[in-house]
Amino acid sequence: MSTNACVIGWPIKHSRSPLIHNHWLEQHGIGGRYTREAVEPETLDAFVARLRDGQFAGCNVTVPHKETVLALADEADAAARAIGAANTLWMESGVLHASNTDAYGFLANLDDGAPGWDSAGGSAFVLGAGGAARAILHALLERGFDTVHLANRTRSRAEELAAQSGPKVCVADWSDRNALCEGAGLIVNTTSLGMAGSPRLDIDLAAAKPETLVTDLVYAPLVTPLLEQAKAKGLATVDGLGMLLHQAVPGFEKWFGVRPAVTQELRALIVADLEQE
Ligand code: ATR
Repeated sequence: MSTNACVIGWPIKHSRSPLIHNHWLEQHGIGGRYTREAVEPETLDAFVARLRDGQFAGCNVTVPHKETVLALADEADAAARAIGAANTLWMESGVLHASNTDAYGFLANLDDGAPGWDSAGGSAFVLGAGGAARAILHALLERGFDTVHLANRTRSRAEELAAQSGPKVCVADWSDRNALCEGAGLIVNTTSLGMAGSPRLDIDLAAAKPETLVTDLVYAPLVTPLLEQAKAKGLATVDGLGMLLHQAVPGFEKWFGVRPAVTQELRALIVADLEQE
């Protein structure tokens, strides 16, 4: 079995996954490498053949291949099937498995950063209806949220996602986002707004209850304008970096047989890399 793994995407230069996995490989004394592999859509089949051939223990998958690899795998877990996309592949007894660990990473990050955050159940408010939102809705429904309000600039995308997610997901108008903060125990930004180089997410958290938890999938910058506003209002916040770190755990465990830990040391390594930009 190969002790090498990789992340595939097109383009792939920006991926921080090698920093995470090579840190763990070194920490556990595993003599393999985790590389970035630039895989154009036309060469995805050829890459999957290499994977089946044992050239890699497995891989992570990013844009634009997350949906396509699901169709190429022999087996997909419940999360990948529900989300309609996979971010982790591995071979086991000649079978190509696909998983989606984004929902797991999202929940593990909140469990870590705000223990007990889900104890009250209740309702959540999700902004955005792209691929990331799909994983977040799956995570929140798995965790037992009764109602998830979903608002997206392009309402039709939210409606499409809600229709696939069941009756607990209620579509709201993007223009109603300030009022929707009022009833939410959790507010999640899954849009790209607030990312360095993008406009900020224009929202007023004034109506949020004091016990509301606010989280952002954007992690560059670490403290987005949304999280800054939430902190200023005394609301609890969890930044998005932990999701990136935690979603990497199940893949490493599948490929190398050791469950790695998300530590402050690892976090500091990625923060230092973010600061270099
Ligand atoms: P991802 O897979 O990371 O979720 P995506 O599918 O491109 O990426 O989705 C990006 C999300 O950010 C979408 O919800 C998008 O809204 P639209 O569906 O209306 O495009 C949202 N987004 C991006 N730029 C935005 C902006 N300027 N204002 C509001 N929402 C924006």
